[in-house]
Amino acid sequence: MNVVLFGPPGAGKGTQAKELAKHYQIPHISTGDILRANVRDGTELGREAKEYMDKGELVPDEVLIGIIKDRLTESDCKAGYLLDGYPRTVPQADALSGILDDIRMPLEVVLNIDVADEELITRLCGRYMCTCGESYHIKFNPPKNEGVCDACGAQLYQRDDDKEDVIGQRLDSYKGKTQPLIDYYKDKGILVNIDGTGEIGRVFSDICEVLDQYK
Ligand code: AP5
Ligand code: ZN
Repeated sequence: MNVVLFGPPGAGKGTQAKELAKHYQIPHISTGDILRANVRDGTELGREAKEYMDKGELVPDEVLIGIIKDRLTESDCKAGYLLDGYPRTVPQADALSGILDDIRMPLEVVLNIDVADEELITRLCGRYMCTCGESYHIKFNPPKNEGVCDACGAQLYQRDDDKEDVIGQRLDSYKGKTQPLIDYYKDKGILVNIDGTGEIGRVFSDICEVLDQYK
């Protein structure tokens, strides 16, 4: 199953992707997670990316294309892949299609998770993360014990880019550079819209209803 999870910041891509990867046994590839791991480890890539991420801007295409090429050619992707946060620009989408042709794993479906701006801001302002990859929401998806990860017991933290002014810039970057990909994939006939509002479990079953066709 070869899938892109698409949508604006805060649409629920990461939340859904974690469960979908377990359910369908395919790797979850999040470029945001890869970049944040590099920032944490203090790599050269992390230092370069942080400057853009802290401002809510996109990291340059050539950096992302290199990351995704390396990741998609790892052996676990022979089972399929679930991309989250990539592609985000037309050049990234064009590069992806070349990489996927080379590894003979063409994209089957792009799920566009749709959520209104006001709700996105509420979601991002109330999000708490764990270094293990889990994410929570203070109101919509709280951990059992305040400030502590259910999965690993570590202290939760807020992402540096989940501040209101940076969130505004992330939404602008999405609208200017990423949203045009909706028509790009619609034209290829592989775009499916998903209503991303309502219960996390309900969104998950709506997505599974679509993805079950590609098992
Ligand atoms: P990235 O990490 O990809 O961030 P994003 O796209 O802004 O997406 P988010 O992780 O913020 O949102 P999400 O849709 O995963 O939502 P989540 O499930 O957490 O990228 C970060 C930065 O890295 C970018 O700004 C850029 O600088 C750089 N970057 C990454 N990829 C790049 C690329 N390809 N090119 C260039 N630069 C790149 O949910 C959000 C909150 O809502 C959570 O609290 C969650 O609990 C809650 N929630 C989820 N679902 C629901 C629901 N149904 N109802 C209520 N609450 C919900
Ligand atoms: Zn954790």
